Amino acid sequence: MQTTSKNSSQYPLPARIPRHIAIIMDGNGRWAKQRGMPRLFGHRAGTENLRRVLEAAVEFGVERLTVYAFSTENWNRPEDEVTGLMLLVEDMIDRELNNLHKNGVQLRHIGREDRLSEHLREKVHRAVEKTRNNTRLILNIAFNYGGRDEIVQAIKHIIDDGISAEQITEELVSSYLYTAGQPDPDLVVRTSGEVRVSNFLIWQSAYAEWYFTPKYWPDFDKDELYKAIIHFGDRERRFGMVSEQIQTP
Ligand code: IPE
Ligand code: IPE
Ligand code: MG
Repeated sequence: MQTTSKNSSQYPLPARIPRHIAIIMDGNGRWAKQRGMPRLFGHRAGTENLRRVLEAAVEFGVERLTVYAFSTENWNRPEDEVTGLMLLVEDMIDRELNNLHKNGVQLRHIGREDRLSEHLREKVHRAVEKTRNNTRLILNIAFNYGGRDEIVQAIKHIIDDGISAEQITEELVSSYLYTAGQPDPDLVVRTSGEVRVSNFLIWQSAYAEWYFTPKYWPDFDKDELYKAIIHFGDRERRFGMVSEQIQTP
């Protein structure tokens, strides 16, 4: 593995690091259960962990992080868990916004706005507005997000805009997704040992590298993120070609 010495010596980085990492933050419930605690205790620990992972991502030079925080299917969970998760995200915005802003993080929301309370919707808008000119790291929060739903919404808008069949290209479809204008993730991480997509970025991750770890999300720390980055650095992305075509002289 080729390394550069740009980073602190403890974490030598590979020459190629993922500029955009997407994370399915899974395992909060099991983490709490292991400790004999209610699921929301795990969700709270998960939110705190996001702050730590964010700091590590900035340190490693990651430019963009997309985190799966609440799926369109998560509405089917017990009502008290859903309510608790909504309150937790409000609380996170209240507590973390100034700090995120100070650290140059640009917040974006990807997902549907309907079903979010008026209150939460306004809070999200304010957070997005406040941080819109920050450039250090872009943090996409996938909240009330579903990959299939995103594609369905895109198709509706494409039809509403009177786009003809001949005009439809992959680029055009991409430009109608919640992630319009953003590069696709290079690396998708899923914690908690589950090896499935669960409706996350199904269009955008077409050529992403995947990294699965048994760690529950609240335990996924800086060292774990580092391991995922190293894993990515060791992979050869061929995009359908053969090795010889992509090896740079
Ligand atoms: C991920 O943790 C967070 C959300 C889906 C909101 P889980 O709540 O899915 O935790 P497990 O998978 O039940 O352990
Ligand atoms: C995916 O996790 C959604 C989030 C992490 C927000 P789930 O725990 O909801 O996924 P499944 O139900 O195990 O597929
Ligand atoms: Mg889960």
